[in-house]
Amino acid sequence: MCGIVGAVAQRNVVPILLEGLRRLEYRGYDSAGLVVVNGGLQRVRSIGRVASLTEATSAQKTHGHLGIAHTRWATHGAPTEHNAHPHVSRDDIAVVHNGIIENHEALRARLRELGYVFTSETDTEVIVHLIHHHFHHAEHDLLAAVQLAVAELHGAYAIGVVAQDAPHRLVCARRGSPLLIGLGIEENFIASDVSALLPVTQKIIYLEEGDVADIGLLTVQIYDASGARVERASHVSEQSSEMAELGNYRHFMQKEIHEQPRALADTLHDAVIGDSLLPELFGFDAAEVFAHVNAVTILACGTSFHAGSVASYWLESLAGIPCRAEIASEYRYRDSVPNPNALVITLSQSGETADTLAALNHAKSLGHHYTLSICNVPESALVRQSRLRFLTRAGPEIGVASTKAFTTQLAALFLLTLLLAKQRGRLDAATEARHIQSLRELPGKVAQVLALEAEVERWAERFANKQHALFLGRGMHYPIALEGALKLKEISYIHAEAYPAGELKHGPLALVDKDMPVVTVAPNDTLLEKLKSNLQEVRARGGELYVFADADSHISASEGVHVIQLAEHAGPLSPILHTIPLQMLSYHAALQKGTDVDKPRNLAKSVTVE
Ligand code: F6R
Repeated sequence: MCGIVGAVAQRNVVPILLEGLRRLEYRGYDSAGLVVVNGGLQRVRSIGRVASLTEATSAQKTHGHLGIAHTRWATHGAPTEHNAHPHVSRDDIAVVHNGIIENHEALRARLRELGYVFTSETDTEVIVHLIHHHFHHAEHDLLAAVQLAVAELHGAYAIGVVAQDAPHRLVCARRGSPLLIGLGIEENFIASDVSALLPVTQKIIYLEEGDVADIGLLTVQIYDASGARVERASHVSEQSSEMAELGNYRHFMQKEIHEQPRALADTLHDAVIGDSLLPELFGFDAAEVFAHVNAVTILACGTSFHAGSVASYWLESLAGIPCRAEIASEYRYRDSVPNPNALVITLSQSGETADTLAALNHAKSLGHHYTLSICNVPESALVRQSRLRFLTRAGPEIGVASTKAFTTQLAALFLLTLLLAKQRGRLDAATEARHIQSLRELPGKVAQVLALEAEVERWAERFANKQHALFLGRGMHYPIALEGALKLKEISYIHAEAYPAGELKHGPLALVDKDMPVVTVAPNDTLLEKLKSNLQEVRARGGELYVFADADSHISASEGVHVIQLAEHAGPLSPILHTIPLQMLSYHAALQKGTDVDKPRNLAKSVTVE
């Protein structure tokens, strides 16, 4: 989704801006642009990849010591060059913006009356004209103009602003969308994501809600929403400047699927050293929080929501604690009954998902103070705003379709389940030690499933010409079926639906015929015999079954029933193992179809707008 980079330096900033944008590419975008201040404002914009923008800047010999740049993921207005950022007002002021301005129509009408001419369909263009308007009524003070303008904005914004009259001054502001300042030596930077700045600095200041900053070569002055000067602490980022490289893999998604044994081992490393788990894995005062909680609410979107849904089965069955997993964008707007003793867990790969962040803030506004974030990005907003935290160690996830972030979230949620079970007297020492041993063995078991790739690939060849697919699972594997369907649709564009297998005869069975592949997750758990009956219902209607079965499920291949066998049932960790072949199936189906696997159409990696 949209990305911002800005720089003020004594060297040419164009290569810094372009490299920063390149590092934000994985988040998804459809146009890019930059402005440098060099006498006047020099603007270059292009549709498509940052590579095209790079070519255009070298053709135009763009050069300057102050600049702002942007990758745009279209929300208001099509992905065209005239909608691409930066937006400029009367050749004086330029703005890049992430977020959505909700009162843009009213502002646009007022600015039109003031004589401003709009050249794009974006909500962003109102910001630049508004700043321009105030700039000329605030004695050409860029900081004052930005402060006056943001006071009039409703909605979410992170903005970077430059003016041709202020060649060493970069002003920025944020509310609802992330923005940070990178501190260099006699040069300073801004970005929406730390990864954009890692080649130039790891020293970072995170701006808080409502902050406005005035940045020069040697100075950084930050003001809070009331206009008072404030100090914000600087941090050294834990992220390394090494860009994730593809190595021998064709796509990041394939690489990330195969990284899962390593990602799980790293995530579980501190937990599986002994035979007993410590609550401090989740934060220094986790023991105190766990002692008070009597329910769990999990808030997340997309794949992370599916991880939360699996956990709700674990938490109720193993820890005996009431648990509800809810889609963050629904929770934030519905009237719910708060329980101050509930543990509110937000799950997110990026820690920046706007709906999940808003759901956390909504929960806090309802009086929830036991908050935990399980997240893959250490310095993300979600982690910073939660009382407890668990960092998954999946490493940067570049492919838009989440894979290793999902399985590492599940590993973290299983640890949490064991800790809450122990807290509630439902886990004896021997059982705890047995579960920890299973977690130690998990990376090796995942590697065994990955070895099935060639078999899964052969199945995928049959999917490439299908229009639809049905995914079935039962119990804690139903969310795994949902995740399998989501993976298939998002990267291969094949329409896929998931159902709990027992629900088939209540409607979806009507869809089943010989052209509808039915993918089934068949673990040897207590629901296996029920599932087998459901599979008979499909076969009786001529449906073709593709079954991922545990070895001890004893489901064998026959006419219209294709089976790939996994190892013997892995108990409660089975959902983690059964998700791997579904990831490989969608990856290979997408390869067959020739889609852009790592950057599927219309999607973004971090969904930082509502
Ligand atoms: C699907 C996918 C998305 C994300 C969702 C939440 O493969 O990646 O559904 O899971 O956008 O993102 P995070 O986990 O970053 O909050």
